[in-house]
Amino acid sequence: MAKYEPVLLARIQKPNSHKLEGYRNDGGYSSFERAIKELKPEQVIDTVKNAGLRGRGGAGFPTGLKWTFLPKDHPGPIYLCVNADESEPCTYNNRILMEKDPHQVLEGVMLACYAIKSEKAFFYIRYEYGTAFRTLKAAIEELYAAGLLGRNIQGTGVNLDIVLHRGAAAYICGEETGLIESLEGKRAWPRIKPPFPAIEGAFRKPTIVNNVETLACVTHIMRKGVDWFKSLGVAPDPNNPRDAGSFGPKLYTIAGHVNEPKCVELPMGVTLRELIDKHGGGVWKGRKVKAANPGGLSMGFVTESELDIPLDFNGPGKVGCLGLGTAAITVIDDQTSMVDVLHNVCQFYAHESCGQCTPCREGTGWMLKITDRLRSGQGRREDLDILVEVADRIGIMPGTTICGLSDGAGWPVKTAIRKFRKEFEDAIRGGQPSPIRASLPVLA
Ligand code: NAI
Ligand code: SF4
Repeated sequence: MAKYEPVLLARIQKPNSHKLEGYRNDGGYSSFERAIKELKPEQVIDTVKNAGLRGRGGAGFPTGLKWTFLPKDHPGPIYLCVNADESEPCTYNNRILMEKDPHQVLEGVMLACYAIKSEKAFFYIRYEYGTAFRTLKAAIEELYAAGLLGRNIQGTGVNLDIVLHRGAAAYICGEETGLIESLEGKRAWPRIKPPFPAIEGAFRKPTIVNNVETLACVTHIMRKGVDWFKSLGVAPDPNNPRDAGSFGPKLYTIAGHVNEPKCVELPMGVTLRELIDKHGGGVWKGRKVKAANPGGLSMGFVTESELDIPLDFNGPGKVGCLGLGTAAITVIDDQTSMVDVLHNVCQFYAHESCGQCTPCREGTGWMLKITDRLRSGQGRREDLDILVEVADRIGIMPGTTICGLSDGAGWPVKTAIRKFRKEFEDAIRGGQPSPIRASLPVLA
C-alpha cells in the first residue's frame, strides 16, 4: 500500500496547532463559511450521507441517516450534543484531536449544527480531560471573538452557540442518554429507548448525539468531498445486503504490552497484526501476543491466530467479537495470566454499572465474585459455565437491560472463556493463586 498521508492528524505536530490563526491559514473554516453562504442544510446532510460516514464512537451508525431521524419542520430548539466523554479503556483518539487540533472538531460541530438546523451545541467533555477542556474553551472563545460563533454569523442570519460542559467522571456518562441526563444536572442514568434522542433528547427536545472523531470527519468530507472519503477504507460486502461499508480514515489507539503505544491514523480496514507489529513497535520484552482487544474492552478478545482480521466495522465480528467499537487495541503478552486480565475487566464493569437494571447490577457483581475466586485459587469446576451463562443473559441484546454497558461487560467474559478455556481450567485444577500480577496492562 502507498504511504498514507494523515488527514485527521495532519496538523498535530505543527507549532500552535490548537490556535485559530494557524487553522485558518491552513484553509480552516472555509467549508463552514461556504456551507452557510452557498449550501442548504439538506445539501450538507446529503453529502455526509453519500460519503457513507459511520459513527466513530463505537456503534458505527450511519451519521447522515441519524440526522434525518429528526422530526421534520420542528419549531425548535434542536440540539447537538458532542459526545466527548471518551472512557472506553485504552481509548484516547478523541483526546488527541481535542488537545492538538480542536478547530477541526469545532468546524465539524458547526457544520453539523447548520445541517440539522440547531442553534446550540452542548460539548460534553470527560471530566478527566483537563487539558482538552482548557484547549477547547480557549478555541471557542477565539471563535466568538472572530465572529464565527454567536448571532447572525457573517451576516448570513445563522446563529450558533457552543456550550462546553465538563462531565461527571463516570463511564456511563458516555452512553448517550446517560450523557443527556448528566447534562441536565441529574445522575447519568440511561433512559429507555425509544424514544431515541433524535426525537426526545436534551431538555426533552430533538437532539443529535455525535462523537468527536465523527464530527472531525464531517469537516474533511465537506472540504475534500465524497469521492475522497469513499476512496479510503472498505467497500460494502457484496454478500451482505445490510453492510454499509467502512469508509474513510480512522484513528486507532495501540496500548498494553507493546513497545510504542500510540494513536495512529490509517484508512479503515488495516489489520490488527499490522497495527501491533508495524505501528506499535511489536510486543514488548521480545514476547509474543497472547490476546488483544480489537476495539475497546467491550468488544471482547482475539487470539494470536486471529490478528489478521481487518479492523473495519465487520472484521472483529468474524472472529466472535462484538464489533470494531472504539478501535482501541490493547495487547496482552504471553506471560500474562488471562485469569488476572479477566478479573481486572470484571472489576471495571462492576464498578461502572449504574445499578438501574438488576441483570447488569447483579450480573457484573457475580462475574467479579467468580473471577475473584478463580484468581485466588478457589475456583470451582462449574464456574466457567456459570460465567458464560451470566455473560450471555445480562445484555441489551436479549432485552434485559436499558443500555449496552451490560453487553459490553459480557463480551470479554464470553470470548476469554471460549478462547482461553484451558488456561482457566488449569487455574481451577491447580488451585493456585495467579502468579502474575505486576505486568498487567492498565485497563481502566
Ligand atoms: P446504538 O447502536 O444503540 O446507537 C447508535 C446511535 O444510533 C445512537 O446515537 C442512537 O440514538 C442512534 N439510533 C439507533 N437506532 C435508532 C433509531 N431507530 N432511531 C433513531 N436513532 C437511532 O449504540 P450505543 O449504545 O449508542 O453505543 C454503543 C457503542 O458505544 C458500543 O458499541 C461501544 O463500542 C461504544 N462505546 C464507546 C465508548 C467510548 O469511550 N467512545 C465507551 C463505551 C462504549
Ligand atoms: Fe445502568 Fe447497566 Fe442498566 Fe446500563 S445496563 S442502565 S449501566 S444498570
